[in-house]
Amino acid sequence: MRVNGEAFRTVWMEGTVVKLIDQPRLPHRFAIADQPTWQHTAQAISTMVVRGAGAIGATGAYGLAQAAQMAPEDGFHAAVAAAAAGLSATRPTAQNLFYGIRTVLRAIEAEGDNLPAARQAAVAAAEAVADDDAACCRAIGEAGAPLIEAGARISTHCNAGWLAFVDWGSALSPIYAAQRAGRRPFVWVDETRPRGQGASLTAWELGQEGVQHAVIADNATGHFMARGQVDLVIVGSDRIAMNGDVANKIGTYSSAVCAARSGIPFYVAAPTTTIDPDCPTGADIPIEERGADEVQFTWGWSDDGRFLRVRTTPDSSPARNPAFDVTPAELIAGILTEKGLVPATPEGLARVVRR
Ligand code: MRU
Repeated sequence: MRVNGEAFRTVWMEGTVVKLIDQPRLPHRFAIADQPTWQHTAQAISTMVVRGAGAIGATGAYGLAQAAQMAPEDGFHAAVAAAAAGLSATRPTAQNLFYGIRTVLRAIEAEGDNLPAARQAAVAAAEAVADDDAACCRAIGEAGAPLIEAGARISTHCNAGWLAFVDWGSALSPIYAAQRAGRRPFVWVDETRPRGQGASLTAWELGQEGVQHAVIADNATGHFMARGQVDLVIVGSDRIAMNGDVANKIGTYSSAVCAARSGIPFYVAAPTTTIDPDCPTGADIPIEERGADEVQFTWGWSDDGRFLRVRTTPDSSPARNPAFDVTPAELIAGILTEKGLVPATPEGLARVVRR
């Protein structure tokens, strides 16, 4: 996608350096954060310099390729295994992270003790993970655009745009396709407490593409649905279980319940790399719990250009911070994948899952 007229991906690799769009600085600053070692790359994933299922999947893949480039000849495979474990431990919920790491690991292992070939295969596999993610998201846009009629009012939660993937995005990709086809959709952007991915990232992306939108507090979504001002919902996903249950950013479940109450179709958009073949139901999806400080504080740029963190809760109040929730399959109208619209059922998912 373009930023001020220049094409960017969310993550890429130059030599042995992993390059990331520095997401916590958006929407106020656009900067690239260089990660010189796999340990830096892992830290960037856990601190959410890069976030979003597809983006961290590609970053994990590049991080392992980076480790393979830098691992010593003596103890090469042990060093690669340690990096794979370290990168896998960064965030527990998004299936794409494990898919990306596993894909690169398999490519390395296939070369056995031919280390130059293993290093080369690692980079090629990471590039393939990133290219595949971008291609899938573009295809999701084409598959989903027909759902969006001229002037449609769409609700979305969190950021499942191009910043959450390598390019194009999942939930926002059909919206970009409809916009480019001249259908001028309008998007209700849930703010997405506590980290504000909707307010900061989705709103910024939509603005860059000229898509009409309004940021709303998360707790305003049901109100606009009940008033007949939402035609459909499209959200992303971090992991899809084989029964059709979907994990996505905390607050998605509430949006789905409100949509069902108002008779609004609720779609999930995700590449098939988000489907976990080893996960039977939503209850089996590990839900990340992040630090209480993300709820107790908020942060942003002051008028005089300083990045400030301010406390919004009493000093003594504890907080809880689950990062994701699970929406049951019965509330989902369909899952938009690169292979088309699939029902959120065991049969539908079995047809498209990657093993
Ligand atoms: O915690 P994040 O920002 O990494 O959350 C992941 C997400 O971006 C959302 O849950 C999104 O809707 C899923 S699609 C990448």
